[in-house]
Amino acid sequence: MSQSPPDRQPKTFHVKSYGCQMNVYDGERMAELLQERGMSAVSESLDADLVVLNTCHIREKAAEKVYSEIGRLAREDGTRPMIAVAGCVAQAEGAEISRRARTVDIVVGPQAYHRLPGLIDDAMAGRAAVDTDMPAASKFEALPGRTRRSGPTAFLTVQEGCDKFCTYCVVPYTRGAEVSRPWSAILDEARALVDAGAREITLIGQNVNAWTGEDEAGRKQGLDGLAYALDSIPGLARIRYTTSHPNDMTQGLIEAHRDLPSLMPFLHLPVQSGSDRILKAMNRSHTRDSYLRIIERVRAARPDIALSGDFIVGFPGETDADFEETLSIVRETRYAQCYSFKYSPRAGTPAADMDGQIPAEVMDERLKRLQAAITADQHAFNRATVGKRTTVLLERKGRYPGQLIGKSPWLQSVVVEAEGAQIGDLIEVDILSAGPNSLAGAPVAAQAA
Ligand code: SAH
Ligand code: SF4
Ligand code: F3S
Repeated sequence: MSQSPPDRQPKTFHVKSYGCQMNVYDGERMAELLQERGMSAVSESLDADLVVLNTCHIREKAAEKVYSEIGRLAREDGTRPMIAVAGCVAQAEGAEISRRARTVDIVVGPQAYHRLPGLIDDAMAGRAAVDTDMPAASKFEALPGRTRRSGPTAFLTVQEGCDKFCTYCVVPYTRGAEVSRPWSAILDEARALVDAGAREITLIGQNVNAWTGEDEAGRKQGLDGLAYALDSIPGLARIRYTTSHPNDMTQGLIEAHRDLPSLMPFLHLPVQSGSDRILKAMNRSHTRDSYLRIIERVRAARPDIALSGDFIVGFPGETDADFEETLSIVRETRYAQCYSFKYSPRAGTPAADMDGQIPAEVMDERLKRLQAAITADQHAFNRATVGKRTTVLLERKGRYPGQLIGKSPWLQSVVVEAEGAQIGDLIEVDILSAGPNSLAGAPVAAQAA
């Protein structure tokens, strides 16, 4: 296969995102940037002149994916697209990537992607095109305004980076220190997204509830203040945010869940483990009890709130007794949904060098038990919504003609037979039945007719 980079200016591109919501958001911004340069998007990577692999470094499996993908970027005629590796693997591995995979032309980190056009020129001219700077100046100011034709739901980065340094996690190294975007930049972007068709906006940040800023009048504001300001944008029906850290869960934000109907009753609040000993070794800086007390306050403010969490099983030194505490915090909290992962040692993080690394079979067994408990709760949560009348924001087509799929306020997927309704409509629905992963509902108007 050809090892030489393409010799003409790329006119088409394909961006592939592998990571979290922020990674997806970055992928959209890169696409807009390339479009502004006059390039157009294509849906198949081998049809594109430039492929951007927007990578994730969080666990080993995620990080390794990029190398098999690079291997596949070869056409039958011996040519290949120009290849840019972006995202958190680019930040963590830098120039090492192009040494390991010779066909990589560009390496660009998550804080430098506004300079992608210049890097394409460098690559065309045969210059090294590696940029993993973490500049003090915000990339956001250098990016073009939001141009995407928005679907009904959109992500909006309000906070980036992490100062928490959990001992297993690469994010503080790949994303840098916590930075909040300014109030007015966020509101401008939100208005642009609504003008482009968004009816729901999810504010995203690695620790989104650590967002702080000043409003137009110079008053100090937190994420709750931002939610109130977004609420007054005409046409914006729903506000969500993710991911929150327990230590940044302020009383103001909890009360916003009580007082602000457009703030959806859903909270993703990762705890990682139910054992204080493990939480300490993880440097989570909260305890099992302090976490449960926050959940209590949130539920007192908004009794119907759906809770979601992240868990890691097999952290170094985790005993059977520690793991039982994780199962018991799941039982106690009754989550609506959760993400759970086997611990993956990441080079450069303190936990990777800790004693007591857990064998793979033990991790497999624990993950299986944890996921069984989580799935049972998720199904129970879904069943409890049967018989309720609620709203659904229609997001996409279903499998069969006339079927549309949308989300409930509690972030459940709801399949509706919605003759006459359209993607982007916010409709009233009666929930008829529930499976572990989705609900079926009937539009209220259709029943009346
Ligand atoms: N900022 C968020 C989420 C960060 S990454 C938070 O603090 O909760 C998303 C999830 O990936 C984490 O919540 C954690 O459960 C998981 N994760 C992070 N590093 C991991 C590792 N080394 N091995 C396994 N799971 C990990
Ligand atoms: Fe990673 Fe912890 Fe920061 Fe979350 S809070 S991004 S898990 S270091
Ligand atoms: Fe992955 Fe980076 Fe997000 S490591 S989870 S893409 S912040």
